[in-house]
Amino acid sequence: MIDGKIIGELEKSALEEISKAVNFKELENARINYIGRKGKITSTLRAIGKIPEEKRPEMGQLINDVKIKVSNAYEAKNSELSSGLSDKDPYPGDPTLPGRKNWQGGLHVLHKVTKEIKEIFYGMGYSLTEGPDVELDYYNFEALNFPSDHPSRDAQDTFYINRDILMRTQTSPVQVRFMEKNTPPVRIMSPGRVYRNETPDPSHSAEFFQMEGLYVDKNVSMVDLKNDLTFFVKTYFGYEAKLRFRPHFFPFTEPSAEVDMSCFVCKGEGCSVCGKTGWIEIMGAGMVHPNVFRFVGYEQDLYTGFAFGMGIDRIAMLKYGINDIRHFLNNDLRFLEQFWRQKGWE
Ligand code: PHE
Repeated sequence: MIDGKIIGELEKSALEEISKAVNFKELENARINYIGRKGKITSTLRAIGKIPEEKRPEMGQLINDVKIKVSNAYEAKNSELSSGLSDKDPYPGDPTLPGRKNWQGGLHVLHKVTKEIKEIFYGMGYSLTEGPDVELDYYNFEALNFPSDHPSRDAQDTFYINRDILMRTQTSPVQVRFMEKNTPPVRIMSPGRVYRNETPDPSHSAEFFQMEGLYVDKNVSMVDLKNDLTFFVKTYFGYEAKLRFRPHFFPFTEPSAEVDMSCFVCKGEGCSVCGKTGWIEIMGAGMVHPNVFRFVGYEQDLYTGFAFGMGIDRIAMLKYGINDIRHFLNNDLRFLEQFWRQKGWE
């Protein structure tokens, strides 16, 4: 007996078979199966004469509608397969072609190295603070014990906005800014860009990056400075890396030192990278000068502290064997891309 339910089921299975078809052969089979000359829908329509007369118009209409719907679905599928747009087609193109990769950028190597350095100092309890690139003469020089007209300023010529405002030559002004607003204990690091009036060459640039460190508390000594820096260098460059402290002068530390690392290329034997000395300079450091404490209002008799400032570009050059500081700012993708593929700490 033909009724609405049977017709509904026929419609459902016909549409399902058509939509599942992934090629012309399957689609043609579905067509023959339902709306072909001997198809299920066609023969149901033909059998209409066998049902009671009063039901014929309603059922006839129903089957006809279904037939039209199924034919439309067939046409739609047919053109979909012809245009090759079927997303169910298991062979959408030449499967032997290599895949296409999306272009993806990555961190600049200096940014990556900064993150890696920060990670190590976070582990030692340092927190992060930042200061402005455009700085007051007061913070960059005066409060760091560089009196105006003193020759100690000559080593750090920079770009002046006016007499009192300049592009900072070092990250050390952040020490003063932070100590003005905070009382000891203080344990901070401060990475950032610095500027100097330099003619660019393989090891000089008019802008580069530094990472400042400052630790002030009761009884801080040079031993603590050596400890933190040694831990950093061995963590970042490997356990064989060694440090050497050479006496030096900075107006805002006393005693002061320049810190060298054993050459990573020759392991201290002497080669062209380290100028045959076996050592490479990576930072300046020392014990905070009492005059700096006076400027920020810390009790000189109660507190001591150490500070260091390392060249991030230098560290990156050593870490990745880069031979010219100017590569960092040339924006050449062939250079920059190399570091995106290396596994970082981030
Ligand atoms: N600011 C110094 C420089 O740029 C480095 C330094 C930092 C030295 C902290 C001592 C202490 O040369």
